[in-house]
Amino acid sequence: MIKATAAALPDLPPFFHPLYLKSVGSTNDEVKQRARAGAPEGTLVVAGEQVAGRGRSGREWTSKPGNLYLSLLLRPRGEAGAAAQISFLAALALSGAIVEIAPDLKPQHKWPNDVLIDGAKISGILLESSARAGGGVDWLVLGMGVNVAHYPEDAGQSATSLHALGAIDCTPGSLLSALGPALLHWLEVWRAEGFAPLRQAWLARAAGLGQELRVRLPKEEFSGTFRDLDSDGSLLVELTDGALRRITAGEVFLPQT
Ligand code: BTN
Repeated sequence: MIKATAAALPDLPPFFHPLYLKSVGSTNDEVKQRARAGAPEGTLVVAGEQVAGRGRSGREWTSKPGNLYLSLLLRPRGEAGAAAQISFLAALALSGAIVEIAPDLKPQHKWPNDVLIDGAKISGILLESSARAGGGVDWLVLGMGVNVAHYPEDAGQSATSLHALGAIDCTPGSLLSALGPALLHWLEVWRAEGFAPLRQAWLARAAGLGQELRVRLPKEEFSGTFRDLDSDGSLLVELTDGALRRITAGEVFLPQT
């Protein structure tokens, strides 16, 4: 049985239509269901735990109580490609919220949508969308999981949590009270001014800029130097022969991760 209560939710700007579920399969699935039934933009499902949390590339997202699990329904008005920029928006909002509640921490962005602290993954972002007949996006679900109290030890890459980093007073609720307004802020900036200000802010906290990284694509893997973020969010990697390669999707490995 799904239990719903508002008690575990902080006050959020009126843009959000929040719902707290103590336990759920996946918050993304909950919001997708609501999106298909016509729920408004701003529908937000926050869960105390997920028993079938999903990560990118079909991976499991371990979701025991103590961390933040949320999914937000957006209905972007632009092209399908622009919706991918929402992952940058989410990473930016999260790094800003972390600095707000734990000013000693130094979150960094890892392309395309990870947030790292001291080189270790603190969160995961999963975007799922549905195209509208005739073009554009009907709905987009932004799913975010943030390691507040614990992190998986066996995730195949270095991970950490806010508590492990010393922010022991942080709770999913206190983080959400900073993250909600930050998400709304960057959404408004993106809608009013496009991707350019997001690109600039993302680059200001980019991990590995100017350094060597490894790029894994479905059919190849190569190394290069992380040179820049293109005007649409693509990764620009300089190859050993000096050519610049533009990456629109793939996985990136920095030396320390
Ligand atoms: C990743 O693999 O890095 C993305 C992980 C995304 C996890 C979040 S937790 C809230 C939402 N619901 C899910 O099932 N997944 C996302």
